[in-house]
Amino acid sequence: MCGICGVVGLRHATPIVFEGLRRLEYRGYDSAGIATLANGRVERRRAAGKLDNLAHVLEENPLPGTTGIGHTRWATHGAPTTCNAHPHSTERVAIVHNGIIENFETLRRELEAVGQVFHTETDSETIALMVDYHLAQGLGPKEAALKTLQRLEGAYAIAMIFAGHEGLMIGARHNAPLAVGYGDGEMFLGSDSLALAPLTRRITYMDDGDCVVITPAGAEFMTFDGTPVTRKEQTTALVAGAIGKDGYRHYMEKELHEHPLVIGQTLQRLVDPASRTVVLPDMPFDLASVPRAVITACGSAFYAGMIGRYWLEDIARLPVDIDVASEMRYRNPPLTSGSLGVLVSQSGETADTLAALRSLREKAVHILSILNVEQSTMARESAVVLGTVAGPEISVASTKAFTAQLTVLACLTIATARARGTLDTAGEEALVAALLDLPSRAADVFTSGDAIRRMARVVAEARDVLYLGRGSMFPVAMEGALKLKEISYIHAEAYAAGEMKHGPISLIDRTVPIVASAPYTPLFDKTLSNLQEAKARGGRLLVFTDTKGADRVSAIAEDMVVLPHVHDFVAPILQTIPVQMLAYEVAVLKGTDVDQPRNLAKSVTVE
Ligand code: G6P
Repeated sequence: MCGICGVVGLRHATPIVFEGLRRLEYRGYDSAGIATLANGRVERRRAAGKLDNLAHVLEENPLPGTTGIGHTRWATHGAPTTCNAHPHSTERVAIVHNGIIENFETLRRELEAVGQVFHTETDSETIALMVDYHLAQGLGPKEAALKTLQRLEGAYAIAMIFAGHEGLMIGARHNAPLAVGYGDGEMFLGSDSLALAPLTRRITYMDDGDCVVITPAGAEFMTFDGTPVTRKEQTTALVAGAIGKDGYRHYMEKELHEHPLVIGQTLQRLVDPASRTVVLPDMPFDLASVPRAVITACGSAFYAGMIGRYWLEDIARLPVDIDVASEMRYRNPPLTSGSLGVLVSQSGETADTLAALRSLREKAVHILSILNVEQSTMARESAVVLGTVAGPEISVASTKAFTAQLTVLACLTIATARARGTLDTAGEEALVAALLDLPSRAADVFTSGDAIRRMARVVAEARDVLYLGRGSMFPVAMEGALKLKEISYIHAEAYAAGEMKHGPISLIDRTVPIVASAPYTPLFDKTLSNLQEAKARGGRLLVFTDTKGADRVSAIAEDMVVLPHVHDFVAPILQTIPVQMLAYEVAVLKGTDVDQPRNLAKSVTVE
């Protein structure tokens, strides 16, 4: 969360930094700001709210200079006001920061004791005032920056510029991502390669504990005590044009329509269609001998992991432990070394998932990460990375990355089951055939648009909504409820359908619609009984089913969406698409900010 972008070079910095911030706005949109050096002096413009507000400020009051840094904020400490917006500056220095300085109160007291005056409620201003203090004591920019970095605790990616030092920018990272981009006579800093995509494909990903001194001529890397280190330059595959809306109303709508494509692309990497087998990359451990799996993730990625658990237990007969990463990282579960840690993350930067990865690695667990951003921090710390080939996902609410994660988990399940001898050749062929059939079945889902929009009109009127599912449809229900909460601000709860009678059934009346995922799987009858119980109490049933379940569902449901019938194994992948579409259509009806819902950010790099 929070996006950082910076440039030193020959061109006007503000438009370059602003364009970088546009591409980083998914990381937070509480406020935005840019600082440059204009005739050697620090100048800045800031605005609360979205980047468009900053654009108006810059129109009225342009910001010259060829050295600049910018920030888009997801507020942690201090309200999302203009005053608290980054960059934080003094007449000597301007800084932008992503992360949390955990010891900021101590540092603030120390700085106040020596006469530094704070103007904001943020933890980040501490960095600016500490660097400023050291500069005032006569240190040069590099020494002042290093001396400050040695005192900071917590998570941070930082960029700094210094009055009187045109063409100089200093960056640092510790537990928050930062990348250096190489141009022709100009250099860049950015939170990720997406920010830098239109500027350069030549990138160095910084390591934790790295400081970098950047001038138009290049970058010098060092540790916080000033010891020089060498960091590799890489070429990114990201293309600048890949993030337009392509005529869709929102990125989310575009990304929903990419489900068939990304499932297909992900399968292309992991499946040999001729032999109908799964082909995973070489691994430094043997899937046959892992004693158990531990799955952990946050948000939607966690629900994907939950579906993975059903598969791994059922098909590969592998014991699985699963928890959200914010709990897993502190749980200290007793684990046999050689267990398999499965980390699922779109961004590969989520702070809790990364911390859980590290705590599992300390227990000698083999780390296998399922990631969309394959050059992320988690990728660099994993023994094996299985990529979800979903392309950039811009909408804060995850859609296509989720089905791509499921596709990878499905392939991992098949490979594990084969290795453990719980799936024979014919069994593998049948499951792979079901997967290969998915892209075209997923494309069929979009023919149900009218029915989904009809359901959306009912849901949009509600204050509370219950989502139900059984077995692998339970996490689908959870994903549906999360998506609805996130983007339409309607309260939604997901329950395992069989649990409803232990509490939530008391909520049921005409004002609480029930959205159920009930395709014709072995649990269809059980789910239907639970739906009957709800109907008997006046519940309004909106049901996602398939061609085989349609007749029986139509007898009890107020409305239904009928999807193609597919193999039980892949049914949760297909059934996810319409629940996400429903949330989208409700949000459109409610007129909310679909792609950038309030209070959220896509890449959550704070704990
Ligand atoms: C945020 C996003 C969610 C996402 C979660 C985990 O909360 O809004 O859409 O599922 O983070 O992110 P990750 O990048 O680790 O998948």
